[in-house]
Amino acid sequence: MKLWVGSDHGGFKSKEKLVGVLRQEGHTVTDIGTFSEESMDYPDIAKLVCLAVTGKKADRGILLCGTGIGMSIAANKMKGIRAAVVWNKPTASLAARHNKANVLCLGGRVLKPSTLIELARVWIRSPFERGRHVRRISKITALETKKRG
Ligand code: RB5
Repeated sequence: MKLWVGSDHGGFKSKEKLVGVLRQEGHTVTDIGTFSEESMDYPDIAKLVCLAVTGKKADRGILLCGTGIGMSIAANKMKGIRAAVVWNKPTASLAARHNKANVLCLGGRVLKPSTLIELARVWIRSPFERGRHVRRISKITALETKKRG
């Protein structure tokens, strides 16, 4: 899968580990930073990853900050993005199967690296279940009232 991955300083260390594992497992990963623990603003990274997803440069995106929450709030402002914060295997799986989340948000300060790596794997491997969820996704899309850049 073509993945764009980014983090702020709070997710930096976990992002480094996650990118390494995803590459080892055969994914094509674009790591857009950040590349240190120096403080930076997570919406800047969220925007770049989301534009890659909506512009079809990436199949999906993964964003890490301290909690995953700031990244998800920022990402969900972008047209065409369904970003999900997940914290265990059921939420990671359901984010893909029911919500068709195209961006995964993970908390580098609240999850162990091994845990968030496993959650990314679960999300990547879980197929969208279609059926009644197609209608619900359409209704989410209909809530988008204007294009945001
Ligand atoms: C940065 O200190 C922290 O606020 C950020 O990583 C994230 O957790 C925000 O939601």
